[in-house]
Amino acid sequence: MRLDVVTIFPEYLEPLNVSLVGKARARGQLDVRIHDLRDWTHDKHHTVDDTPYGGGPGMVMKPEPWGEALDAVLASGEGEPVLVVPTPSGVPFTQQLAVELSAKPWLVFTPARYEGIDRRVIEEYGDRLDVREVSIGDYVLAGGEAPVLVMVEAIARLLPGVLGNAASHQDDSFAPGAMADLLEGPVYTKPPQWRGRTIPEVLLSGHHGKIARWRRDQAFARTDRNRPDLIERADPAAFDKKDRETLSILGWAPGEDGRFGRTNQTVEE
Ligand code: ADE
Repeated sequence: MRLDVVTIFPEYLEPLNVSLVGKARARGQLDVRIHDLRDWTHDKHHTVDDTPYGGGPGMVMKPEPWGEALDAVLASGEGEPVLVVPTPSGVPFTQQLAVELSAKPWLVFTPARYEGIDRRVIEEYGDRLDVREVSIGDYVLAGGEAPVLVMVEAIARLLPGVLGNAASHQDDSFAPGAMADLLEGPVYTKPPQWRGRTIPEVLLSGHHGKIARWRRDQAFARTDRNRPDLIERADPAAFDKKDRETLSILGWAPGEDGRFGRTNQTVEE
């Protein structure tokens, strides 16, 4: 997969040389190219921003450097990339979107500073390319570089051969499949005793069925505590008889449409 990032802070993308993404680059699985937007300015001060039409606070990124930069990046490769524009006004970045983007051969990221990029740039490339305006969460950062690091890591670890263990992202929280719609439960490793704390007995039992059931119950408990909205949204067809018992103990019951909602009572075990 090829990834291009156009930024006014190339050094901000240094973490892409480290760890999982760094190793994938070294192995040739990822071709990452970082570009300095100011290379496509022509004035003495390498100006990339200007005041907004209509007034208001902050500065807006000028269209000309972005246009020249993107034309150069597009001309340097085969075919058409997906253009990923980080912005708090975008669609939410989800595991599903990470999976979708991980199947593309070429992504170009355009992290902006200030109040964003002149709208005409998005329109211009939207006419020719698949452009995705994406937000990594409901908070406002100073720029799109940190979101690019977040998205690239989420995407890169899905590429074949990038994670050591191919199965290890199949039961990620939010991954499609058996544990879809549930958060992952707790994990433990050696030593068996640490500061007087032990390992849940069932994990030492060697009984795979019981372990799977315990893990799923833990996942329900954590989702109930941290993300009840995921249970409310879940397709109830995904819940078996034991799941329903667990949900009932946690204070959930199916409504008229079959979907689960919280009741007022919690059944004591
Ligand atoms: N730029 C600033 N805040 C952002 C966010 N939450 N997501 C994506 N890009 C951003």
